[in-house]
Amino acid sequence: MGLGKTIALEHPEWRCQCIDLDSADSTESNAVFLVDELLNPSLENQIVRRNAMRLCARLVPYRPAETSKTLPVRQHGHYLICGGLGGLGLLLAKRLAARGARRLTLCGRKSASPEAASVIAELEQLGAIVHVNQTDITDAGQVQDLIATASAQSPLTGIVHAAGMLDDGVLAQLDWPRCRRVLAAKTVGLQYLHEYSLHLPLEFFIGFSSMVSLTGSPAQGAYVAANCFVDGLMQQRRAEGLSGISINWGPWAEAGMAARLDDKQRLRLSSLGILPMSAEDAFRALDRLWPNPPAQIGIMDIHWPSFLSHFPGASDMPLFESLRQPSARTLTTESAPTSPAAWPAQLESTAVADRRSLLSALVSAEINRVLGAESNRFIAPRQRLFDSGLDSLTAVELKNRLSALLACPLNTTLLFDYPTLEALTNHLATMLPVSFEVIEVAAQATTSSAIDEQTAALDLLSQQQLEDLLAEKLGLIAE
Ligand SMILES: NC(=O)c1ccc[n+]([C@@H]2O[C@H](COP(=O)([O-])OP(=O)(O)OC[C@H]3O[C@@H](n4cnc5c(N)ncnc54)[C@H](OP(=O)(O)O)[C@@H]3O)[C@@H](O)[C@H]2O)c1
Repeated sequence: MGLGKTIALEHPEWRCQCIDLDSADSTESNAVFLVDELLNPSLENQIVRRNAMRLCARLVPYRPAETSKTLPVRQHGHYLICGGLGGLGLLLAKRLAARGARRLTLCGRKSASPEAASVIAELEQLGAIVHVNQTDITDAGQVQDLIATASAQSPLTGIVHAAGMLDDGVLAQLDWPRCRRVLAAKTVGLQYLHEYSLHLPLEFFIGFSSMVSLTGSPAQGAYVAANCFVDGLMQQRRAEGLSGISINWGPWAEAGMAARLDDKQRLRLSSLGILPMSAEDAFRALDRLWPNPPAQIGIMDIHWPSFLSHFPGASDMPLFESLRQPSARTLTTESAPTSPAAWPAQLESTAVADRRSLLSALVSAEINRVLGAESNRFIAPRQRLFDSGLDSLTAVELKNRLSALLACPLNTTLLFDYPTLEALTNHLATMLPVSFEVIEVAAQATTSSAIDEQTAALDLLSQQQLEDLLAEKLGLIAE
């Protein structure tokens, strides 16, 4: 389902829908359901069939219990953090130690970096015993050893899976080795941790997933799929009566993957209304989920009206239905520069001679929008857009926005085929049902009226005169 969410965003023209059939039901019954979905397409793109019911995904606000407590952390507990030497792993280790945990096992494939070593020294000063274990959790034998070694020191009471990696790229650029690297720790690694810890009486088993597995994310197909696996496995654990929760985190401010993003990527997130969270806010939100944590929840600092108006397709996606409050809707309309399919009408009502420059200005504003720049920032007409900040991710976003505004499908290679503002504008002009060519239209009119006159003159000639004229023309060609 994860990859499907990205396909839907990168290629809206394919109308990708994710349908999860019911393995407990017959093939015939599932086939009837599937055909019905295919013959009656809807805007729903995350559909699950269970117990003869059609269930569609919705994001809804979560209301914690009035009597919420905190993540259970005990002095005599033993906490394993996979990915514990990474940004969020270390922040969590500090939090657990500050809350009284006295035994922590932190694992990663590499040994502790100088930064991790200094955090470990801090933890030890707080009185914690810290074991650093170099384990690749995608190796079954290493995971068995990790759990056996940790349990022998002191029974494990909590596991956090915070291992993962990013390697972004649009679907057309992805190959299996790249996908496998991103998927491995969150699929194979998590599965091993789950299987080899089944005998342990864990108070919690937390999967660090990402908000992108809720919303989808262009150019992050493998990462979205990897995080969807975390969500699915935690749902499965809960259905089996085990502890388990998947947190779809938004970006964190202090450390980790999001803190390492460059300015352009940060700007892109903030233009979507997604802000980096402080660790304090993140842990406070995590605490409020206890004593009855849901199987999956998103924790993020997000301004929904901005997100709904700028995230591709979000304004129509049923997933966000309950987040489109009247106030959010008003803001969405106000902050959106143009409504979908607005350009043809806008251009039509402009003088023909001014249409190309208007189109150029509109395209330029959209380029600036996806780059998070001021809408009137000057873009040199012949400068390569990929040299002025556009990348494969923003190219997909731009292509999708232009397609919606022009109300016509556009090729995925649009920005590669027409890499400058000028080339792009000229190409888009040919895609619109609006005339741009004042002079050409007049010239064509002259040409066609000249042809009409010639035809009328030929009508006046006799058969012999026509044959002579033809012979003369053929003679000219032969010469
Ligand atoms: N940071 C954020 O804002 C954010 C937001 C949403 C979700 N998340 C999720 O939170 C988790 C932690 O992210 P982070 O920001 O702390 O990332 P990070 O700083 O890159 O840390 C990830 C850690 O995972 C470890 N790891 C990767 N593959 C592994 C494997 N096969 N076996 C064992 N360890 C492995 C890495 O260590 P080695 O390379 O040494 O193995 C690394 O230290 C990730 O799952 C991420 O998807 C983070």
